[in-house]
Amino acid sequence: MELSQRVSSLKGSVTLALAASAKEMAAAGRDVINMAVGEPDFDAPRLAREAAIAAIDGGAVKYTPAAGLASLRQAVAGHLSQTRGVPFGAENVVICHSAKHALSHTLLALVDPGDEVVLLDPAWSSYYAQVQLAGGVAVHAAPRPDGTCAPDLDAVREAITGKTRGVMLNTPSNPSGYVWTREELEQLASICEEHDLWMISDEIYGRLVFDGAEHVSPTSISPAMKERTVLVDGASKIFAMTGYRIGYLAATPDLARTVGNLQSQISGCPNYISQRAFEACLVEEPEEVKEMIATFDRRRQVVIDGLDRMGLRGPEPKGAFYAFPDLHERFDERGSEGFCADLLEAEALATVPGTAFGAPRHIRLSYALSEERLVEALTRLERFLSTRP
Ligand SMILES: Cc1ncc(COP(=O)(O)O)c(C=O)c1O
Repeated sequence: MELSQRVSSLKGSVTLALAASAKEMAAAGRDVINMAVGEPDFDAPRLAREAAIAAIDGGAVKYTPAAGLASLRQAVAGHLSQTRGVPFGAENVVICHSAKHALSHTLLALVDPGDEVVLLDPAWSSYYAQVQLAGGVAVHAAPRPDGTCAPDLDAVREAITGKTRGVMLNTPSNPSGYVWTREELEQLASICEEHDLWMISDEIYGRLVFDGAEHVSPTSISPAMKERTVLVDGASKIFAMTGYRIGYLAATPDLARTVGNLQSQISGCPNYISQRAFEACLVEEPEEVKEMIATFDRRRQVVIDGLDRMGLRGPEPKGAFYAFPDLHERFDERGSEGFCADLLEAEALATVPGTAFGAPRHIRLSYALSEERLVEALTRLERFLSTRP
């Protein structure tokens, strides 16, 4: 049986596959350290858990409007107005099954077959697949060549053609931990305005910024920029609610309505229980969040110190929970994929090859692990490197 062209060249998520093989190794009895996961190791906040249980016990676990509960859309709008410093209303917001879902629905709503979407490398692997599934063509804009993973705005300009519909932005970045400065965003915004492009702004790591870095949303650059931005965020990272599967997008009322309609046909409303749990965390900031951010910052420092000790260079991780060292001098002809496979086999340390993100000189290390495990992971990496030419 022939499959559709849409899926025939589709590959599964590299990071999820790696996380799965690490879990298999662990199940077979090896002491695996999993630095491949993009998942906080904390439990969801107490408020979320209590709200979820109350939602189940309340007996109203039924369909909600396709775009989500009115009260949650209002809570998201209030949260965005406060954190991005520009006004949002419930009419701007669509609650989705996750940020991933919000991104894929956005692309389905904006991209026609053959349309181009600019990805700012190194970029999260799912963007490539999602653009492709929407019938679009992902066009890559390389970062500055100095290894910092900072954007090269000239490369962005060169990537734009008459077919470009939009740019996908992720700051703080998965995989590099890079946080865009306001000046860089202003330049990107003026490129979008000049070429009449959408900005799809994935802000899922927006609150995980460290060491004086500031997360700037393109919606706050100017009212015109807010109109052409689709802001995506969710509960997975900041509230450690990955398994709840809940996120949202905010856009113009027209686009929000369109995505709501699309969602009503493709998947229907997001999970009611998760909507209630998420709403509880937006109405009142969970007490665990501050400590979680501080914990990530301490872990970040452990990783920075460890990589420094080994003399490894890479972008300074100022946001999200990833480090992205450049190890290309230690790769054999199989590149970053071979390196990560050997590291997993030899030291039971799971990491992600940079090829998954369009950055073949790097590997990605997630520091969503306890400090104790991080220290052990760095010891394993150091030992492994000592065995390589
Ligand atoms: C950049 C980025 N965007 C979106 C997501 C997905 O978030 P969600 O769990 O809400 O689908 C991830 C998860 O790894 C991510 O790294």
